[in-house]
Amino acid sequence: MNLTDEQRQQLIEAALTVRKWAYAPYSKYPVGAALLTASGKIYDGVNVENAAYPSGICAERVAVFKAVSEGEREFVAITVATHNGGSPCGACRQVLAEFGLDTLVLIVDGNGNIVQETTVRGLLPGAFTAEALEKSG
Ligand code: THU
Repeated sequence: MNLTDEQRQQLIEAALTVRKWAYAPYSKYPVGAALLTASGKIYDGVNVENAAYPSGICAERVAVFKAVSEGEREFVAITVATHNGGSPCGACRQVLAEFGLDTLVLIVDGNGNIVQETTVRGLLPGAFTAEALEKSG
């Protein structure tokens, strides 16, 4: 599904804006994510760190889990904003892959410039999905 220019701008704005709520006292690397669902809603998320480091979670997964816990499962696009245009981590790629390989991914820097535009498939070629489980046994 293609994004309109307006949707694209809204997603970028949302990811940039929500980044202020990132809880990143350890890495000092705030991340904002904004996820557009097929129903037209935008769910945002930030990274939430913890003194026990592995207990923290990335912005993208917060956005996905917020959406799924509100009954949403069809995702059109996700925007990820960091100051330097960092790319989604492997765990987030896997979580996104669960809900569709065609979800558009916009990676933006702190000024909202698009550093990379791709899809979940592009970020995670050969993804392990439910299909693999169906083939077992
Ligand atoms: N982080 C994200 O929120 N998303 C990513 O895809 C990459 C990393 C967070 C996790 C941690 O809070 C900080 O960035 C540094 O790794």
